[in-house]
Amino acid sequence: MPIIPTSKTEIALGPPSKTYNRRFVYLLASVGALGGLLFGYDTGVISGALLFLRDEFHLGPAMQGMVTASVLLGAVISSVASGILADRFGRRAMLIFAAILFAIGAVATGLGPDIFWLVGGRLVVGFAIGIASYTSPLYISESAPAGIRGALVSLSQLLITVGIVVAYLVDYVFAYPTGWRWMFGLAIFPAAGLGVGMFFLPDSPRSLINRGYKERAKQVLIRIHGKTEEGLIEMEKISQIAKLDEDLGQVGWRELLLPAVRPALIVGIGLAVFQQFVGINTIIYYAPTIFEWAGFSSHAIAILATGGVGMANVLMTLVAMVLLDRWGRRPLLFAGLVGMIVTLVWLGINFLRPEAERGGVAVIVLTLYVASFAISLGPIFWLIISEIYPLRVRGRAMSIATFANWLSNMVIGFTFPLLIVALGAPVTFWFYALIGIVTLVFSYLLVPETKGRTLEEIEAHWFKSG
Ligand code: BGC
Repeated sequence: MPIIPTSKTEIALGPPSKTYNRRFVYLLASVGALGGLLFGYDTGVISGALLFLRDEFHLGPAMQGMVTASVLLGAVISSVASGILADRFGRRAMLIFAAILFAIGAVATGLGPDIFWLVGGRLVVGFAIGIASYTSPLYISESAPAGIRGALVSLSQLLITVGIVVAYLVDYVFAYPTGWRWMFGLAIFPAAGLGVGMFFLPDSPRSLINRGYKERAKQVLIRIHGKTEEGLIEMEKISQIAKLDEDLGQVGWRELLLPAVRPALIVGIGLAVFQQFVGINTIIYYAPTIFEWAGFSSHAIAILATGGVGMANVLMTLVAMVLLDRWGRRPLLFAGLVGMIVTLVWLGINFLRPEAERGGVAVIVLTLYVASFAISLGPIFWLIISEIYPLRVRGRAMSIATFANWLSNMVIGFTFPLLIVALGAPVTFWFYALIGIVTLVFSYLLVPETKGRTLEEIEAHWFKSG
């Protein structure tokens, strides 16, 4: 017996509903996206805090590495461990759980008496980030009307970039010996916003249907679409797909490898790895150092230039939000990738010039590189993985792609300083450019266009081709 329906399956889905209740939908997306703000803030804040932790606790390189890596390690572990929970308990419960972990981590690191509290607290923050990094876009994606889903889901990426800039700023404001306690502790405010906000908001309608809460899902869809009739039509479409899902019997991990789901799994894992292997976080985490290599002798100017790069990241993510639902995901992805490849090659060439001539060009090139990431792989990776999986394995599949993303993030973080020593800066950046070319080919061949289609239409596509 085939487990996934074949092309004989009739799935009649009308056009996506165009009406929606603006205020409710925006509120829901904004609260959900606070997970992104915490993700950006808590990953960005460490660079500044570390300078003072090092002095206060006399940390050697190994201990510094532990403090920095504990967040990444936490995210790697929790992303893969939590997918099953996101499908069983829903997206809302997971976001509330993540908010509690963020808050515990903020208090433990803000008040921690010794380095073990700090490492432990950062590990807990990492657990929270691993969960929030995919449940925020997932929750928004499953609640958003199809025509504005690209923009709404990318709100979470926008807040990641805002979180990074705010972290730079907070690091700058609290740059004195005990200031690191504020740097870590201030995360309590967005954590409270996320937890309390989600407590008062409903779960996504798709997650409710998946878990058998049909009546509640209907009410949420009516609130989202603003009209009873539109809500009921959407309910009908989602139920059709959910019914197909239900007929398949027990859900298991093995289902992720079935012919109809496997292509989507490959797209998600591929984009996850490529998003990191094009080297974005070498810039986000090491920008001041790169600027110093590029010939800026003053710390202050290097940090200022880093702030500029952070702002470009925010602004271009805003541009992406406007364009994703108009131009589509694929054109933006291709354009951004070409931009990244060109700027990485250029950055490498710039490092061949005498040190005194590198600085200005390095700022321009790095800004263009980050801008290209921000209109493409930055938002589009998280968006695509929130759209392409069948409802009943969506949490699980997304958590696997997220796990691949965090693991790759760790690998790049560890290998970048080694590559610079072993290969030199030019070849290292050219290597990332080469990965960019592979990503372009991969995306051209495999990444589907999801603009304007409901999650059910996208799912029906896999069913039909399964
Ligand atoms: C990536 C992060 C990165 C951030 C930069 C996110 O989409 O997953 O690793 O630091 O974008 O804006």
